Amino acid sequence: MDSLYNTDWKWAALRGILHSVGRTSDGIALGLERGFDSGESMEYIYRNQPSGRWGIGWLADWLYLQQIGCRGLRGRKRQLQDALRETIAANRVAGQATHILDVAAGPADYLLEVFADDGGDDLSAECRDLDTAGLARGRQRGAALASRVRYIRADASTSAAFAALTPTPNVAIVSGFYEILLSDEQVRRSLRLIAGALRPGSTLIFTTQVQHPQLEMIAHVCNNRYGEPWLMKLRAAEMVAAWAAEAGFVDPRTRIEPLGLFTVTTARRA
Ligand SMILES: C[S@@+](CC[C@H](N)C(=O)[O-])C[C@H]1O[C@@H](n2cnc3c(N)ncnc32)[C@H](O)[C@@H]1O
Repeated sequence: MDSLYNTDWKWAALRGILHSVGRTSDGIALGLERGFDSGESMEYIYRNQPSGRWGIGWLADWLYLQQIGCRGLRGRKRQLQDALRETIAANRVAGQATHILDVAAGPADYLLEVFADDGGDDLSAECRDLDTAGLARGRQRGAALASRVRYIRADASTSAAFAALTPTPNVAIVSGFYEILLSDEQVRRSLRLIAGALRPGSTLIFTTQVQHPQLEMIAHVCNNRYGEPWLMKLRAAEMVAAWAAEAGFVDPRTRIEPLGLFTVTTARRA
C-alpha cells in the first residue's frame, strides 16, 4: 500500500508541475493543449529549439526536449528520412516517379524536408491525418510545395479511405502511428489496408517503438490529443515485420535509432 500511495503522490506532483510551471514552456503548453502525441507536438520536438516565457519557460522547454523520448524521436526522424531518400533514389534508378501515401502524417515535416532537399517533379505525396490542426500546420509549412504535397483529412483505420487512390501510391509511410495503436489487430488490419492500396514493388516504411524507460511516467503524466492518458504499446520490429509479411510485404530491413527506442523498417510489396 505504501509504495502505491507514494507512486500516486509522485505522479500527482509531477502532473501539478506540468500544469503550472510546465505551461511556461511552449512545447509543454502545446502538448497540454493539443496532445503530446499530436503531429504538432512531434514537429515541435523535431525542431528542437527551446522556447518559453521567461527564463524558467525556456529552461523547462529545454529539459522537455532533452528527455530520452524526444531525443529518440529525432533519431527516428533522421532514419525515416534516410529510408525515404534511399527509396526515392531506387525509384529513380528504376525510372519511376515516387507517389507517397503517409497515413497518419501530422505536418510531416520529415517529408517536406526531403522534398525540399531532393526536389524533382517526380515526387508527390498525400499526407493524411484525422487531426485537422496538424494538417493545417503541414499545409502552412509546405506552402512552397503545395503542387506536390496534399494534406487531406482521412481515417487510416477505414477501408473506404484506401479505395481508388489517384495516383496509386508506390511508397507508404506509417510513422509514429503503430506506437499509439494499443490493439495488435488494429496494426495488422492497417498493414492489410495499406498492402491493398499499393501496387507490387512498392515500398512500405513503418516505425515501431521497441523500448522506452519513461513509458509509465508518460502514461501517468502526459495527455494524448483526446485529453486522456497517453498510452503507447511497445512492439518488436520483427513482430510487426512478420504481420507485414502476412499482409504481402517481403524483404524487411530494419534500422534502430542510436538510443535504441525506435525502429524504422522498410519492406517491399510482393
Ligand atoms: C505520434 S503522431 C505521428 C505524426 C507523424 N507521422 C510523425 O511521425 O511525426 C500520430 C498521428 O496519428 C494521427 N492519427 C491517430 N489516429 C489516426 C487515424 N485513425 N487516422 C489518421 N491519423 C490518425 C494523429 O492525429 C497524429 O497526428
